[in-house]
Amino acid sequence: MYILALETSCDDTAAAIVEQTVDGVFVRSSVVSSQIALHATYGGVVPNLAAREHAKNIVPVIEAALREAKLIRTDIDLITVTQGPGLIPALLVGTTAAKTLSFLWQKPLLGIHHIEGHIYANFINQIPQSNIEHQESIFPLLALVVSGGHTQLMLMRDHFQYDILGETQDDAVGECFDKVARLLGLPYPGGPLVAKRADDWRSLISDPAKNTLESSQIKNRESSILFPRPMLESGNLHFSFSGLKTSVLYFLKKHEADLKNEDFVSEVCHEFQEAAVDVLVGKTQRALEEYTPHTFIIAGGVSANVRLRNRLRNLLDERFPDTTFLTPEFQYSLDNAAMIGAAAAFRFAALSPDAKQALTASWRTLDPDANLPITPL
Ligand code: KG4
Ligand code: ZN
Repeated sequence: MYILALETSCDDTAAAIVEQTVDGVFVRSSVVSSQIALHATYGGVVPNLAAREHAKNIVPVIEAALREAKLIRTDIDLITVTQGPGLIPALLVGTTAAKTLSFLWQKPLLGIHHIEGHIYANFINQIPQSNIEHQESIFPLLALVVSGGHTQLMLMRDHFQYDILGETQDDAVGECFDKVARLLGLPYPGGPLVAKRADDWRSLISDPAKNTLESSQIKNRESSILFPRPMLESGNLHFSFSGLKTSVLYFLKKHEADLKNEDFVSEVCHEFQEAAVDVLVGKTQRALEEYTPHTFIIAGGVSANVRLRNRLRNLLDERFPDTTFLTPEFQYSLDNAAMIGAAAAFRFAALSPDAKQALTASWRTLDPDANLPITPL
């Protein structure tokens, strides 16, 4: 079965063709048109500008996805789209396009929660349907959801059963990366740049040949900067990142002149990232101890962070060798439509024949929801 998936919840216009077979879910094409250059001028996403770009790009992106998959519209069995959460003007473009195609092509239409998409990105090209090696169940499954809008630890006892164990009490971790980038004068979107600068610093201090710097802390290979690890010892699985951002802000106010020094900026990126990763890894460890899941996955844009992936990999290898650790392929970590198609493939397969039939009329009722809750079947 072939699924056409659309995603326009933020600043990427994305379409994908996903194929579901007995062996699993595979991506036939995944097209993402990014609006980074447009929003960089404003230092963040401007919802109405995002919507205008989506409206311009959505049809060419759908055409490209079909062309790359070498399919035509009659090959498509299901249309799916991100229904929320996200920016309403942006979501409206995707949902309107999906509803129009569903009506014109007479295909069933399924709305998907954006975070469910990020979670199911882990199953693309990876596992046959609901089973992993040796037909052993992948559940219970622990998910660390880390994106621009979400920071959560979730326990899934089965497909589409989401038990939120802990979540951020204020900023999301991706948002915190972006805000710190802004404080440092790095362009939008800052998260990947902070990560890159942190890596630069790591290679600088670990390679004496490159280390021609005078600063005593570099010579000692230890930074004198120490940012807090908020709520690390809170005794629960909740997070908080606004205090970390504020302490970076106060620190930089005291060291304004140093911002001209590129190595200083890289060092701050590194120490900030260590603080954020320490909290994410510490909370994950606590959840793994408490719930001993069969599978652990990471989901959302911050799952592209290599330092976070490596630290989690070490934690699993050393402390939880019986838990399978899945990560999305890098191209499916950030916003894309293939992940929406993957979630739709699993959801559609689990529906009753009547519920499947009802989807042929959902173009009448499917509306975007900026605060869509994640729900069971
Ligand atoms: O999932 P996503 O693409 O969009 C949302 O659903 O929010 O996540 C975007 C977030 C942004 O905050 C971005 O800065 C962050 O993910 N991000 C990263 C990295 N790549 C993207 N943060 C840290 N390290 C990265 N390598
Ligand atoms: Zn996302």
